[in-house]
Amino acid sequence: MKRSLFLLIALIVLAATASASTTLQNLQTAYNGESNAHARYLAFALKAEQEHLPQAAALFRAAARAEEIHAANHAVVIKKMGGTPEAKIEKPEIKTTADNLQAAIKGETYERDVMYPEFIKQARAERNRDALETFNFAKTAEAEHARLYTETSKDPAKQKAAGVKYYVCTICGYTTTKIDFEKCPSCFNPKDKYVAVS
Ligand code: FE2
Ligand code: FE2
Ligand code: FE2
Repeated sequence: MKRSLFLLIALIVLAATASASTTLQNLQTAYNGESNAHARYLAFALKAEQEHLPQAAALFRAAARAEEIHAANHAVVIKKMGGTPEAKIEKPEIKTTADNLQAAIKGETYERDVMYPEFIKQARAERNRDALETFNFAKTAEAEHARLYTETSKDPAKQKAAGVKYYVCTICGYTTTKIDFEKCPSCFNPKDKYVAVS
């Protein structure tokens, strides 16, 4: 009798530990981060418009679209794991476009080098393939965002260029200046999954 009671308690403890998955918490953190990045970049795009920097504005809008896709992808996995996606949207701190670009580079670099690598490591340990995929899609896109923001921040004259388009993969959020491929380099879906953002 005592033995079966012990087993029952052990099972309950095990179930509770499993339900408090670190990956589920990481998905919530990432969902909140992506949702805030989406809102922040839209605000940065408006500021760039006011400063007559349409290329910078287009890049902020393209990245905003990508972050929206990342948030939606994370939300699907959160729900699949029995959770409810929750984001607390903070009021973005808007400075000059030059400063906003630096803030964006800092955020993307952190996600690329610290946040997503840690979340990927944990998802791998938990053998959570869905989380692994959505984290990897985001990490690859953030690396590209960091590169595009850096390029733009170094070229103030280019920021004034009108009619610049970016292309965003609606499946994984990969962001690029031109589609010179048949399949998305990140998620391998056909190029018709891309949308143009200007
Ligand atoms: Fe993202
Ligand atoms: Fe990003
Ligand atoms: Fe993709």
